[in-house]
Amino acid sequence: MTNQAKLGQPRSRLVIHDLAQRNGHAEFSRDIREGLSSYPKHLFPKYLYDELGSRLFEAICEVDEYYLTRAEDEILKTHADEIVAGIPDCDTLIELGSGSAEKTRTVIDTFMRQRRELLFIPVDISASTLAESAHALLDSYPSLRIDAYASDYFQALDALPPLGRNPVLVLFLGSNIGNFEPTEARNFLSAIRRVLRPEDVLLLGVDLKKDRQTLEAAYNDSLGVTRAFIVNELGRINRELNANFDLWAFGLRSFFNEQAGRVEVYLESLRAQSVEIRELNMSIHLEAGERIYVESAYKYDLNDLRRFGKEAGFDLEQTWLDKQKRFSSNLFRAAN
Ligand SMILES: C[S@@+](CC[C@H](N)C(=O)[O-])C[C@H]1O[C@@H](n2cnc3c(N)ncnc32)[C@H](O)[C@@H]1O
Repeated sequence: MTNQAKLGQPRSRLVIHDLAQRNGHAEFSRDIREGLSSYPKHLFPKYLYDELGSRLFEAICEVDEYYLTRAEDEILKTHADEIVAGIPDCDTLIELGSGSAEKTRTVIDTFMRQRRELLFIPVDISASTLAESAHALLDSYPSLRIDAYASDYFQALDALPPLGRNPVLVLFLGSNIGNFEPTEARNFLSAIRRVLRPEDVLLLGVDLKKDRQTLEAAYNDSLGVTRAFIVNELGRINRELNANFDLWAFGLRSFFNEQAGRVEVYLESLRAQSVEIRELNMSIHLEAGERIYVESAYKYDLNDLRRFGKEAGFDLEQTWLDKQKRFSSNLFRAAN
């Protein structure tokens, strides 16, 4: 279903393709049933981002411990001119998992200064965030056009229209790639590569391996915003599947598994408890101390990234780091 521009925006500047609505509830129900009947139990990171979850993620970006957003923002502010200048004639920017698109503004500002016009194609599973950020961007940039996809990444990559004649730049920021298992991450880069032509460019934001204390704090901040964000997935199951999770009965546990190179994020049941998920006609039991695996955040080094890129048909052309060398922005060019 395509939802043409609303709220007084000129029709020609905004199109929202709402693919997330198709089968969205059925897929959510199926995945929650599968995840909570497995042992160990697990949930899926993509379902963290309903309307409230997306707002909570924006709040995480403000907490002291979550350095990722500030580090990537610093890199983009310092190098956006060079990045855009390095893709002459590029007039299309695709962003996967665009969220509020706050950091993207730096890149859009640069396009507007260097090229005056831009087609922005944001993709995000959170339809509310996508619509809100699209309207805010149109208000800020009078010559910007937006063709937005409320959709899972893979579904949107399949649905994209043929690319125009000029090169495109794809953004995948925020170390979102870290939520994939390494094999899935490679498949995802290959799926991006399949829609690109030689000379198109991918800018991949990736968090780097570092000390345990910094990593664990980033995924369990002292204000408890990350806990609220993660526990909101149980809140979402309560709201959308008529369940009765007691949100106070879960603690957040985030561990850096150094051998696997990932931060593991769990919800831990603080007591023995049973939960009814009425819409799924399902009852689950959790022991005291039992954990539900919610997300992985893989951390990489630059050799891993170069290899991943190669395997997917990209050449790693340049990497920029923030001053404290915590985060990397990597420019991959689609190989011939
Ligand atoms: C960690 S946030 C990053 C947001 C923004 N790019 C940033 O760097 O701050 C991840 C974003 O990706 C979206 N997302 C997560 N899983 C997704 C999926 N499978 N398909 C499409 N979007 C997804 C979320 O809704 C959210 O906006």
